[in-house]
Amino acid sequence: MKHLLAFVSMALVSPLAATQPAKAPPADFQTALWASSCMACHGTDGRAEGVGMTIGGRPSDELAGMLLAYKSGERIGTIMQQHAKGYSDDELKRIAQHFSQFK
Ligand code: HEC
Repeated sequence: MKHLLAFVSMALVSPLAATQPAKAPPADFQTALWASSCMACHGTDGRAEGVGMTIGGRPSDELAGMLLAYKSGERIGTIMQQHAKGYSDDELKRIAQHFSQFK
């Protein structure tokens, strides 16, 4: 009986689900989510006062350059190379752009 109910509810629900297009989150929202993972260490507005890790408000090209260098291994850090490797070059540029907008 349980199985029958599950089957019936699936049959009823799935045509509805099929009409909902699978949508990627808006690009800005996606970038903001990626950037939020940086904020634990770099501060919510990218300002980690006093520890030399302020990334907020710095030029986008400069930030992107450092991130790409961590990714390629050209720049050595303790943790940043691992973070940088999780993103495509384009995604790193979007994250850099996001932090550059902070005042
Ligand atoms: C676990 C803490 C941590 C997280 C999370 C983190 N960082 Fe870092 N970041 C560091 C540390 C520590 C350094 C110094 C270099 C090193 O040791 O890797 C650094 C350095 C940097 C630098 C170079 C700053 C400079 O002036 O030399 C940039 C740019 C940067 N991080 C951007 C980011 C971005 C963007 C993210 C998110 C994708 C991120 N970081 C996530 C800890 C973190």
